[in-house]
Amino acid sequence: MFSSVAVVVAAFVALGCAQSNSSYPSPPTVLGPEDVTGGSIEGFQQPHLFQDNGTYGPQVEIMHYYYDQWPIGLAAFPTGDSKALYACYTRGPYKYTLGKITNLTAEEPWPNQEINTPPGGLLDENLSSLTGYSMATNSTDHFISVQALYTDPNGRLWVLDTGRPTVTSDNGASTMAYAVVGGPKLVLMNRENGTIERTYTFPGDVHFPDSSINDVRFDLRHNITASGQGVAYIVDSSNEGRNAFIVLDLGTGKSWRRLDQHPSMLHTYNNRASYAGIPTYITIKGQSEYSNKEGFDGLALSPDGEYAYYSPLVSQYLYRVPTSVLLADNGPNGTDGHDAELKASFAVQNLGQKGSQTNGFDSSSDGRIYLLAPEQNAIFAFNPNTSKIEPFVRDPRLYWIDSVVVADDGYLYGNCNQLPRQMQWNNGTEKRVKPGIMFRVKLPEGASRITTGLGGA
Ligand SMILES: *[C@@H]1O[C@H](CO)[C@@H](O)[C@H](O)[C@H]1NC(C)=O
Ligand SMILES: *[C@@H]1O[C@H](CO)[C@@H](O)[C@H](O)[C@H]1NC(C)=O
Ligand SMILES: *[C@@H]1O[C@H](CO)[C@@H](O)[C@H](O)[C@H]1NC(C)=O
Ligand SMILES: *[C@@H]1O[C@H](CO)[C@@H](O)[C@H](O)[C@H]1NC(C)=O
Ligand SMILES: *[C@@H]1O[C@H](CO)[C@@H](O)[C@H](O)[C@H]1NC(C)=O
Ligand SMILES: *[C@@H]1O[C@H](CO)[C@@H](O)[C@H](O)[C@H]1NC(C)=O
Ligand SMILES: *[C@@H]1O[C@H](CO)[C@@H](O)[C@H](O)[C@H]1NC(C)=O
Ligand SMILES: *[C@@H]1O[C@H](CO)[C@@H](O)[C@H](O)[C@H]1NC(C)=O
Ligand SMILES: *[C@@H]1O[C@H](CO)[C@@H](O)[C@H](O)[C@H]1NC(C)=O
Ligand SMILES: *[C@@H]1O[C@H](CO)[C@@H](O)[C@H](O)[C@H]1NC(C)=O
Repeated sequence: MFSSVAVVVAAFVALGCAQSNSSYPSPPTVLGPEDVTGGSIEGFQQPHLFQDNGTYGPQVEIMHYYYDQWPIGLAAFPTGDSKALYACYTRGPYKYTLGKITNLTAEEPWPNQEINTPPGGLLDENLSSLTGYSMATNSTDHFISVQALYTDPNGRLWVLDTGRPTVTSDNGASTMAYAVVGGPKLVLMNRENGTIERTYTFPGDVHFPDSSINDVRFDLRHNITASGQGVAYIVDSSNEGRNAFIVLDLGTGKSWRRLDQHPSMLHTYNNRASYAGIPTYITIKGQSEYSNKEGFDGLALSPDGEYAYYSPLVSQYLYRVPTSVLLADNGPNGTDGHDAELKASFAVQNLGQKGSQTNGFDSSSDGRIYLLAPEQNAIFAFNPNTSKIEPFVRDPRLYWIDSVVVADDGYLYGNCNQLPRQMQWNNGTEKRVKPGIMFRVKLPEGASRITTGLGGA
């Protein structure tokens, strides 16, 4: 144990010396009183100085260490007979994209490797050579690149597959392959036997080739759709195309876009983030540096299902919209006339600035909306009763929390994956340090996962 401490100290000293090529500036030398006065003040005691220790809120408990693949989404079933933690990983070269935690340090493909292996590969080589673009496989019954997992109000596990694997060329430059209808999908899994219970895909005028489905929330109230089986609200967060809600009727399988390209969906031009105090540009190898352009990202529902709270990732603003205007369908056979998009646009409310860019939301039974604040290694909470954003938890280990879910045990679970330090954003140099983590923190005042309010049985 002692020797490993010595190694850490040595590495720290070495870092301090190599300031010309470190991305962290070295701290200034602290001047003692003798430096100012030209002589030492006899008996002067250095006062204790206030400092930001980077920490507040409930204790952070580490639930899992990721040594193999960097995670993105997670699902937590901490109670009952079938307790389990699941993780997903976007691809890339990874062997599997949906996994289950097996112990503190290991995961395995779930439900098996076969469903994580699209026959013919992640790309459709024929379509790619025909079009000149990297085109993804259209495999509907295999997982391609799973971005998010979520537990619906009835406790069922859902899997959101972007259908868009990342392609890295020989020189280290990376892009996402374009989606082909059938590949992007929302899948309901049976957790007991690992079978697929239902799969929803999207037509090409709802999910575009450069769409990027990022997250999903469920409202299962029977009276919100004619089919009576509730809806899924899906985030199209594309950083290259169009941002919108994709609303999916779980009864009919019909889907439509809402608030397409609305200003509240879009990234703010030249909005700059800083992570761990470092102003950050994205430098993809072989390309010019730029500011992150990701739009609509965080989404959470109020416990009564009446409001959707949301924000683009690259934006300072928090928005909400009544879900009634998202549910209105003016598609080809829509029942709500042709002004649904106009009404939705006019109903958006700007709730002011968040104090950070945010890269994901979840909500709890007391109505708090948790906002992931990667610039502060923190989670903030919007309290609808006071209309204020409150501090919730902050910890230097929470570097880029990529996803959180509120679970049945009254804890919020999250994954940290150090994304801004990934090779793809750092001119081809991998700066992340394994392991990634899954953590949990206790919610205040006995709050828990939203169940009955959103139509759960
Ligand atoms: C960093 O800079 C120092 C001093 O300029 C040099 O000795 C060292 O080799 C450099 N390290 C790397 C990894 O480039
Ligand atoms: C960090 O500072 C806060 C505010 O002063 C304090 O409440 C907290 O206990 C400190 N935490 C640690 C780990 O020192
Ligand atoms: C976790 O499981 C892996 C693979 O089965 C095994 O190699 C490892 O020793 C286990 N770790 C712990 C902490 O039990
Ligand atoms: C690609 O084309 C070849 C030759 O026509 C065919 O055998 C193969 O099945 C095609 N692959 C896919 C994924 O369609
Ligand atoms: C998927 O693509 C293959 C090859 O292009 C094609 O033969 C097949 O019909 C497609 N499947 C669906 C469901 O569109
Ligand atoms: C999995 O379980 C569900 C419900 O418990 C059942 O309907 C289905 O037939 C099972 N599938 C398999 C392959 O065992
Ligand atoms: C659905 O039912 C709930 C509870 O009865 C009610 O509060 C809500 O207004 C209804 N929603 C719609 C869209 O009718
Ligand atoms: C719309 O209705 C027409 C005629 O009733 C039908 O042929 C068509 O399939 C429907 N389209 C959709 C998207 O439901
Ligand atoms: C807001 O007020 C409602 C009604 O009094 C209460 O049930 C809920 O717990 C409160 N939520 C917060 C975050 O204070
Ligand atoms: C990226 O690395 C290349 C060399 O591989 C270098 O020429 C270029 O200046 C670097 N870009 C930035 C923004 O540091």
